[in-house]
Amino acid sequence: MRGRLTLFPTVDTLVHQAAARVVTTLGEAVLERGIAAIALSGGSTPRSVYELLGSDEFRTQLPWERVHLFWGDERCVPPHAPESNYRLVKESLLRNITIPALNVHRMKGEALPGEAARAYEEEMKKIFALAQGELPEFDLLLLGLGEDGHTASLFPGSNALDEEERLVLDVPAPGRISRRITLTIPVINNASRILILVSGKNKAAILKEVLEREGLQYPVQRVIPSSGDLEWLVDQDAASHLAKAGGT
Ligand code: 6PG
Repeated sequence: MRGRLTLFPTVDTLVHQAAARVVTTLGEAVLERGIAAIALSGGSTPRSVYELLGSDEFRTQLPWERVHLFWGDERCVPPHAPESNYRLVKESLLRNITIPALNVHRMKGEALPGEAARAYEEEMKKIFALAQGELPEFDLLLLGLGEDGHTASLFPGSNALDEEERLVLDVPAPGRISRRITLTIPVINNASRILILVSGKNKAAILKEVLEREGLQYPVQRVIPSSGDLEWLVDQDAASHLAKAGGT
């Protein structure tokens, strides 16, 4: 297994600790550089983290005017669509904090997928002031884990998994109508810190597969930070099939 696994008794404790890590990591980045950048994930567990970050307990713990929000992936749908990851963050976090609109870097799900991917690359190059061929370094990047081993919108068997140049690609989503926009593996692996949030019994089988089976069969197994820190935040239910770490 790459990275380290932290086991939590319940999803609530996992979510609380994930929010605390977001505040600590971004707060340190702001102290160090005056600015912080996070890439947000879609999914039910990340949503709970955003809701907590927008709560009275956490909302005031970050200087949001110095934090830049990016997305790790987006569905190619309008921002008001139920399946939009932007809408997920807007409803769980943005409506509860004060953050400059210029700090919210939405993937334009309503645009033509290829154009939206290119536009997002250009936006990252501008905000991160990237030289030609340089990768953005997110201070923190949140990921979930799908039951098929996907992460962000990098799905098993996708050509996007082998992309080495592009920062952002548009990809088909197996079994779904709308295409997706996703950060590529090089961008993900260049992050300073990565948290993979996994909760629920429905993830127990895939978590065992991706952690205990060697190889790169599953997209999430390609999350191998070049120099950053990788931590799996897992609740007891999701860990229940693991040989170690509380598995039975
Ligand atoms: C998305 C996410 C995706 C998600 C996993 C886990 O856009 O859906 O980026 O990678 O994190 O599918 O989602 P759940 O936590 O809801 O199972």
